[in-house]
Amino acid sequence: MRLLVCGGAGFIGSAFVRVRLEDHGDDVVVLDKLTYAGREENLAGLDVGFVHAGIEDAGAVATAIAGVDAVVNFAAETHVDRSISEPDAFVTTHAVGTWVLLEAARAAGVRCLQVSTDEVYGSIEEGSFTESSPLAPSSPYSATKAGADLLVSSYFHTYGLQTVICRGSNNYGPRQYPEKLIPLMVLNALHGDPLPVYGDGMQVRNWLYVEDFARGIGHVLAHGAPGEAYNVGGPDECPNLEVVRRILELTGADESLLTYVKDRPGHDRRYSLGSEKVRALGWEPRVRFADGLEQTVAWYQDNRAWWEPIRSGDYHAYYERQYGSKIKR
Ligand code: NAD
Ligand code: DAU
Repeated sequence: MRLLVCGGAGFIGSAFVRVRLEDHGDDVVVLDKLTYAGREENLAGLDVGFVHAGIEDAGAVATAIAGVDAVVNFAAETHVDRSISEPDAFVTTHAVGTWVLLEAARAAGVRCLQVSTDEVYGSIEEGSFTESSPLAPSSPYSATKAGADLLVSSYFHTYGLQTVICRGSNNYGPRQYPEKLIPLMVLNALHGDPLPVYGDGMQVRNWLYVEDFARGIGHVLAHGAPGEAYNVGGPDECPNLEVVRRILELTGADESLLTYVKDRPGHDRRYSLGSEKVRALGWEPRVRFADGLEQTVAWYQDNRAWWEPIRSGDYHAYYERQYGSKIKR
């Protein structure tokens, strides 16, 4: 296939590109704005075309989409904490950007896969969300992602555009920007810095190894029915505190680094996705959380050249803003 992958220089997008090249021999063009989270080095050594632009740039998108078989949209602002402190870019990319992309797809007659998140359903105390659960997002991140999903569905219903939506649970693995729980805790543990656990640390996430999500998206691209949404959930759930304690063990860091800090406003307590619909298409996750976490910690230990420049750059200023007043030194 010839694919346009928007947001392909990020964590999941670049894993998806890798899977498409290795397993399918696809012809891939990445379009990415290269925000703080987008990194060209994530695509190093891969034979792909690259367009440096935002999905809200109608001219660049129209040119890039011409002649492709499908567009897969990963482009997004993805950190919930940043959506609470600075929501502007979330609205622009998720609402305006998705609309511009859909218009270009409609004009070019190209089918669209929108990458979405379990967070659009909100929090669930027991059981799991299905694709027909109501959308009840809690944060500016998840609300704007839900808005994008609704826009995508509207283009199917109104214009007959061939669309499909893939909602993933919490991803982890190599090349995740260290603002997210697992890489943040691993790097802090390696540096002997405090590990900041929000609230009581008993929030539960449904962990999905990034290559499993990438392959799940591929299954939906190949076999998904137009107009439908598919949940792609990980095989294991785990409270944050257990994740952090395991990271302390794997890195050999001291338990005294574990630090409880003020909770995230509007913090969702638990996510859980039922993935029967995508499993019926032949997908299943291959990596259990215990193994994937061990591999991920090893990847960060072995790839300092990937994260050291991040940790000493803009990230440092972000970290001070986000955690400076929360962690007593
Ligand atoms: P990421 O932050 O690592 O990467 C996002 C990428 O999008 C970056 O390369 C960035 O430069 C690019 N981007 C941002 N705004 C853009 C714009 N306006 N135009 C073009 N490119 C832009 O994020 P990720 O974790 O890889 O997430 C990718 C997608 O998967 C997102 O849509 C996210 O909502 C979704 N998702 C993420 C998770 C998770 O656990 N990380 C789980 C489910 C779904
Ligand atoms: O569920 C899918 C979503 O998972 C994606 O759509 C988002 O893009 C992705 O960022 C992620 O959202 P979360 O908010 O669940 O991920 P985060 O890594 O920010 O936090 C995971 C949990 O860990 C959450 O309960 C908050 C907690 N946490 C996080 C950080 C960064 C802490 O306790 N301390 C921290 O420093």
